[in-house]
Amino acid sequence: MTRRRRERATDSTFVDNLSLPVHRWFRYSAGFAAEWARDLIERQRNAGRRRVLDPFAGSGTVLLSAERCGVEAVGVEAHPFVVRIARAKLGWRESPAVFRDYALDVLERARERDPGDCSRYPSLIERCFPAGTLARLDALRSAWRAAARACSASDLTWLALVGILRECSPVGTAQWQYVLPNKLKARPLDPFEAFRAKVTAFYQDMVDRQAERLGPASIVHWDDARTCRSVGDEWADLVITSPPYANNFDYADATRLEMSFFGEIAGWGDLQESVRRHLVRACTQHVAGLTDETFAVLEDPILYPIASHIRPVCERLAAERDQHGGKKPYHTMIATYFQDMARTWRALRRVTKPGCLICCVIGDSAPYGIHVPVEQWLGLLALAAGFRAVSFEQTRHRNVKWKNRKHRVPLHEGRLWIEG
Ligand SMILES: C[S@@+](CC[C@H](N)C(=O)[O-])C[C@H]1O[C@@H](n2cnc3c(N)ncnc32)[C@H](O)[C@@H]1O
Repeated sequence: MTRRRRERATDSTFVDNLSLPVHRWFRYSAGFAAEWARDLIERQRNAGRRRVLDPFAGSGTVLLSAERCGVEAVGVEAHPFVVRIARAKLGWRESPAVFRDYALDVLERARERDPGDCSRYPSLIERCFPAGTLARLDALRSAWRAAARACSASDLTWLALVGILRECSPVGTAQWQYVLPNKLKARPLDPFEAFRAKVTAFYQDMVDRQAERLGPASIVHWDDARTCRSVGDEWADLVITSPPYANNFDYADATRLEMSFFGEIAGWGDLQESVRRHLVRACTQHVAGLTDETFAVLEDPILYPIASHIRPVCERLAAERDQHGGKKPYHTMIATYFQDMARTWRALRRVTKPGCLICCVIGDSAPYGIHVPVEQWLGLLALAAGFRAVSFEQTRHRNVKWKNRKHRVPLHEGRLWIEG
């Protein structure tokens, strides 16, 4: 391994993936470093582990890395939009020429279209795109829809359009949900030019990737990690994953811009029904209607292994809530998060072989400044689900620069290793 690659391999963030073919097709900030995943899979393959599962597959980092190591891999992702992104990326084996011709045909048809009625887009879209830009994006969307088929070329063309949305907006469309209308980008791209450039970049990555050795193709299922219904008993011998953290990040909101553009939601209010209800409960928006049930959730026998730890923390969070204007139900979020993760460990016990290895990238949290030792509690729940041993390898500190922080509790992030 080169020095540069070794440095990258220690860093579990998505940033370095932006220089990697296929991985870079969509910037999913929740993702982790592909080269790190690849090193781990390679080492474990040499130790005899050849079936990899990622139950929180996100944009498919582990799945793409597994393909480069020549091992079988299956992913589970519950976010209906994100799973399509992963699936489209896994379509890189499509003939590059077939994809390019398909996508450029969509572009030509978009150029020829009469301007459509753009008055029905949600207000978020109107705030993000000036009329001329939106007219061109709308033409691309209509042309893609008219041609859409169940094939990788169509999925890749969709992803190329998804991938240019933020690049074409003149307002500050930071990664994730935040749209900052008062912050202007220096040079927003023209949709038609951006689309052509994206198609060319995809095409080149496909050519380069296909010049390498091709191993088994990975698969991603739209499914729930808490059940892993699409995965057979004892299928996996290696799990590499990063679940949502218990830190109030709203994955549903992360694709609000894209889902609004494609007409899949009319606004923020639709996210609960269309996205959040499928996900592990890790943000207060998700559990707002469940606050009265919090202490009933804590009675669930699945939480017994951590009952004496979690109950006092939830009681403190409930009391703290009364002191704050926002009244965030962090106590509910924490109770339901661990209930969901306990269910996930049970599902993972079913789909993993005895002797398997799990690497779970995770961080702790401190809502209202009250520390939740996430990796410790997850470890206890994993043991209760039937795994044999757990250990935690810290990789970084978080929240140690005090400026602009809501609380001053030092946090960390690392790898929870579970042996089974
Ligand atoms: C930290 S991200 C994983 C990112 C991934 N490692 C990558 O590189 O793209 C966690 C993912 O878990 C997904 N998720 C949340 N609840 C889920 C569930 N119940 N089942 C499966 N996936 C879920 C989220 O949508 C999100 O994509």
